[in-house]
This record gives sequence, C-alpha cells and structure tokens, in this order.
Amino acid sequence: MTTLTPILTRFWDHPQSWTLATYEANEGYQALTRALAMEPSALVSMAKDSGLRGRGGAGFPTGMKWSFLPPSDGGPRYLVVNADESEPGTCKDIPLMMAAPHFLIEGVAITSYAIGCNHAFIYLRGEVVHVYRRLMRAVEEAYAAGHLGKDIHGSGFDLDVTVHAGAGAYICGEETALLDSLEGRRGQPRSKPPFPAVAGLYARPTVVNNVESISSIPPILLHGASWFAGMGTESSKGFGIFSLSGHVTNPGQFEAPLGIPLRELLDMAGGIRGGKRLKFWTPGGSSTPLFTDAHLDVPLDFDAVAKAGSMLGTRALQIFDETTCVVRAVDRWIEFYKHESCGKCTPCREGTWWLKQILGRIEHGHGTEDDLDKLLDISDNILGRSFCALGDGATSPVTSSIQYFRDEYLEHLRQGGCPFDRDASSLFAKETASV
Ligand SMILES: Cc1cc2nc3c(=O)[nH]c(=O)nc-3n(C[C@H](O)[C@H](O)[C@H](O)COP(=O)(O)O)c2cc1C
Ligand code: SF4
Repeated sequence: MTTLTPILTRFWDHPQSWTLATYEANEGYQALTRALAMEPSALVSMAKDSGLRGRGGAGFPTGMKWSFLPPSDGGPRYLVVNADESEPGTCKDIPLMMAAPHFLIEGVAITSYAIGCNHAFIYLRGEVVHVYRRLMRAVEEAYAAGHLGKDIHGSGFDLDVTVHAGAGAYICGEETALLDSLEGRRGQPRSKPPFPAVAGLYARPTVVNNVESISSIPPILLHGASWFAGMGTESSKGFGIFSLSGHVTNPGQFEAPLGIPLRELLDMAGGIRGGKRLKFWTPGGSSTPLFTDAHLDVPLDFDAVAKAGSMLGTRALQIFDETTCVVRAVDRWIEFYKHESCGKCTPCREGTWWLKQILGRIEHGHGTEDDLDKLLDISDNILGRSFCALGDGATSPVTSSIQYFRDEYLEHLRQGGCPFDRDASSLFAKETASV
C-alpha cells in the first residue's frame, strides 16, 4: 500500500494557510535564500537531476526545458507560469494557489534566478477571480518581505512578478496561444518552431511551466534532487497532486508518489459513492482516453499509463459509476471541445462540430449504425492533422468510449434513445455495470 506524500498540500488545513506567515513557519523562502547563494547553472542541474517532469500534462523534463534557453545576449528573458487550468476535471493548480500560493511565488523566484529572468508572469485562468485576488495579495506580501523586487535578500538579483488574468478560453492554456494572449492578441497557437525557449514572449527566450512544476522547485531545493527522485517510479519521479472527482465518496486532492494506482486512491477516497461500481474514468482529464475497471491497477505514471493506452495528463481522475451513460458524458465533453476550438485549423474546427452533431443524434435516438464509423473516421481525420493538441485531445473520449462501450452506443440505436433515461436501474444499466 502506497502512503501519501503531503508536501505541497501539507498545511492546506492550517488556519490562514495562504499567508506568508504560515508559509514561513513551514520552511517558506528558505530555499530561495539557498538558491541565491548558488550558481544559476547548478539550479538547472538540480532540476535535471531530480527527474521532475512537467506537471502541465505533457510531462516534458523541467530541467531540460530550462537548459534549452540560448546563452544570454544581455536582453530580457522570461518565465511564464501557466495557471490557466481549464481542462475538464483538472483541479490541482487552482486549489494549490488558493491554499498555499507562496510555493508558486518562491518557485518563480528560484526559477527566474536559474534562467536569468528579471520579469516573470503568472497567466491565470480568467474566471477564478478569487484566486486572482489571493495571488495578488501573496505577491504583495512577497514584495513587502523582500522576496521579490530589487536586490532580493541582498543578492543583487532583481525580479518583478506580474499576475495576468486571461479572459477564460481553454486554448489559452496551450503555451503559445497563452503567449499571444499575454501579448494582447487573440489567443491562438503559434507555429513551432521557433519554440518559446528561442522566441517566446515578445519574441524573447521564454520558459513556460505549469504551476505545480514551479511549486515543486522549493521543496526539491530544500530536500535535495535525490530525495525527490527517490519517490515515484523509474520514468516518473517524485510526487504529484491527484484530483479525484465525480462519483467518489470523498472527492479531493491526494498528493502521492507517481505510480500509485487508482485502486489505492479510491480506497483512500472512501470508494465509489453509494456503494456503486466503477464504470469508466479519465486518468488525466477529458483529453486522455478513458479507462475502465480493468485499469484499476495501472500504475499512474507517464509510461505505464501510455502503455495501457491513455495518458497521465494532469492526473485529473474523473470517476463515473454504473449509472452514467457514457454516450451522454462524451457528448458533453465534445460540446466543450467544439465550443473551445479556436477555429484556426479545419480538422478541429469542422471535426469537433460534426462529432457533436453525431453524438447528439445518437444520444437522442436519431442515429444509425453508420454513425459509429463516422465518429471514428472524423476522429481519425482530426488526430495528428490538427494544428495543436486541443484537436487531438478531443478525439480521446470518442475513440476510447467506442472501444470499450460500443454495445452501449448500439443500445441507443436499438432503443431509439438513451437507455439510462428511461430507468437508471434498467436491465441495460445493470448489464453494463460489469463491462
Ligand atoms: C488546449 C491545451 C490546453 C492546455 N492547458 C494547460 C493548462 O491550463 N496548464 C498547463 O500547465 N498546461 C496546459 N497545456 C500544456 C501547455 O501547452 C504546456 O505544455 C505546459 O504549460 C508546459 O508546462 P510543464 O512543462 O511545466 O508541464 C495545455 C495544452 C493544450 C494543447
Ligand atoms: S487544433 Fe483546434 S484549438 Fe488547436 S489550432 Fe486547430 S482549431 Fe485551434
């Protein structure tokens, strides 16, 4: 049985956990003092040695990303923190910034020093005004205490931090769309190359990292790269925040070593709500292919999840019990992707629209068996042909649900509508419980 590793979450239940006083009482800003006495290159090596892989979804090694910046030419270079968190089911960065924002701010200061940045940006999802206020207050506190601003801790290092609230668009979480949005343009992905490390914000060398990636830096520095690398699995080191939501008795954030299986997390969360059975779940948000109860023991690390046919993504474990219609769930997700498609490229703009039309008609009893092939054909035309990963991600729930629940789609056709609508405890619902 794996034990939880509360590090970023360890004082979330303290009174006023978000204040500088609470953070400093819990080793806060000690890592920054230590970092400023080190060579920046040693910090990049530390991040590499820890094995930390980006917590924003793709799992790119963080230290390697920092090392891609070209040598300094005397001009500005930037750190941009991706705090857009809009993937359905993903809810780790927002609670982290609400409960303990100084992990992020200290991480920003250390990372900025490591990469030679004097102005960092935190790009926050626009709708979460409460988090915006909390972050702004925390930044103010950090300036007042000398952790940000001019000549930090007498080191000669200057750093300004700007918190920027977006306008609420999922695509602005894609790192290059985020940069366009931050520059004041409509948020749409840029062509790569050039990658942000070479020409990012204002066409200058830029590191874009997720909130949790950057927040993990102070504990790594304080306790050592090998301490971090000692947790997790061979390919996925360290700890991460797993968010359990949906039909689970005690939903919430569980910080655990990477590699923990859902079976153990579900036990910790009190199991499926109301004693029901697990039907399907997402390992990393709605952009990652669905899993079923056959995948309860898959180690939740980057490689094992990929080997089992999905992606670890953001560890957004959305749990659905036997009373859920999978077609309806997928229809709702595709509505989201259709709405959030930025329209820049045809496969995603047109494809998500058509996926939504077809799923809607199947769910409401107007579909035909050919529609299943059409869904797969359209998905095939989106996957790998879209300009960014939003389009690819939109196909995941469609193709995986047909893979595991084709019979449930067919039952919609046979019954001329959703079998779950008539009676949630119908024979069909009971039969599919064992799928
Ligand atoms: C549509 C879309 C939305 C994304 N949203 C986020 C997000 O909200 N937060 C995030 O950190 N990364 C998001 N990403 C991934 C980023 O493009 C990028 O990989 C990440 O910020 C890198 O940080 P990391 O290396 O620390 O993981 C998104 C990607 C796509 C395609
Ligand atoms: S895949 Fe979708 S979101 Fe990405 S550029 Fe194309 S239309 Fe925009």
